[in-house]
Amino acid sequence: MMAALRHTPLTFVRMFCLTLVVTMTMAQKLRDVDTLINTCIDSKHHKSAPGPEGSLFTTCHQWKNRSCCTEDTTRLIQESSPYNFNYDHCSRVKSMSSECKRHFMLDHCFYECSPNVGPWVVSENRLWRRERYWGVPLCAIDCELWFTACADDVTCTDNWTNNFRWLNMTGDCPTRGSCLTNYCPVNSTCQTFKKIYRTARNFCEKVWDNAWKYAEPTTPCMHLQFNQSAINPNDAVALHYAQIIAGSQMHSCNLVWFSIQLAVWAFINRILTVAS
Ligand SMILES: *[C@@H]1O[C@H](CO)[C@@H](O)[C@H](O)[C@H]1NC(C)=O
Ligand SMILES: *[C@@H]1O[C@H](CO)[C@@H](O)[C@H](O)[C@H]1NC(C)=O
Ligand SMILES: *[C@@H]1O[C@H](CO)[C@@H](O)[C@H](O)[C@H]1NC(C)=O
Ligand SMILES: *[C@@H]1O[C@H](CO)[C@@H](O)[C@H](O)[C@H]1NC(C)=O
Ligand SMILES: *[C@@H]1O[C@H](CO)[C@@H](O)[C@H](O)[C@H]1NC(C)=O
Repeated sequence: MMAALRHTPLTFVRMFCLTLVVTMTMAQKLRDVDTLINTCIDSKHHKSAPGPEGSLFTTCHQWKNRSCCTEDTTRLIQESSPYNFNYDHCSRVKSMSSECKRHFMLDHCFYECSPNVGPWVVSENRLWRRERYWGVPLCAIDCELWFTACADDVTCTDNWTNNFRWLNMTGDCPTRGSCLTNYCPVNSTCQTFKKIYRTARNFCEKVWDNAWKYAEPTTPCMHLQFNQSAINPNDAVALHYAQIIAGSQMHSCNLVWFSIQLAVWAFINRILTVAS
């Protein structure tokens, strides 16, 4: 008789806890994944959340359905650079070829427009951005094409994020706001990409300070170019990594809930034991 009475509340408490655990972790997981696949980095030109754009300028048009950039930003990418970044910093030797520049523009479009970098966002403390992405897997084929297009172009430093000197431009400043632009480091020499970077992998990973990671052939990875009238293939890549991240968070969350559940169970069990 006593044993039966004791089991009723215990079973109830146990079921209640279990239901709570399952519901909360599932809701949490869905929210985490949803946030991770719908993120724009916190930076100078980015929108606060991805959304459709009426018409994105030529190079960035593939991102027009769901984009972190505005048409104004893409026009700057096409015509100059939103940061006055000078791709022709070695113009005394040679201006950048149009095919190489086209790949840098695609890369810049991805940077400003892609809604799929959530799983790789890290904080950074710079005047023009509070977040950046780090280690986004770039498909080997995209990296190889980019490097091949630029192999015979020239530059003066490998790490473009950090090694340039930013000084006022000579002559008229084309954009409103800052007139700073990048100049080669002191005493550097302009050499071919092939000589400075040697391999495609080294180039893609180093040029923007590990923003990209060269993806091995079997790894889900990002494309810089895709068919505008099909679905953005990078959506599935972001989802894949978001689920891994949310899954591992759920695992630790589950452990905490399981411990609480055990503790409550032990506590009630003890009260009931004492009472009997
Ligand atoms: C660039 O020019 C602006 C305005 O002329 C000036 O205030 C600023 O100090 C200059 N910056 C550098 C790094 O020379
Ligand atoms: C640049 O080279 C000159 C001449 O070799 C040298 O005197 C100077 O210290 C170098 N500057 C830097 C920043 O390395
Ligand atoms: C780029 O330069 C910064 C500052 O010197 C350095 O911390 C970083 O490791 C460099 N990145 C690469 C990929 O070499
Ligand atoms: C782009 O996608 C559309 C629709 O899926 C397809 O009909 C078309 O052939 C594709 N074009 C290319 C160049 O792959
Ligand atoms: C953009 O939206 C149109 C219309 O909804 C759709 O047919 C197309 O597949 C979408 N393209 C991308 C890249 O998502």
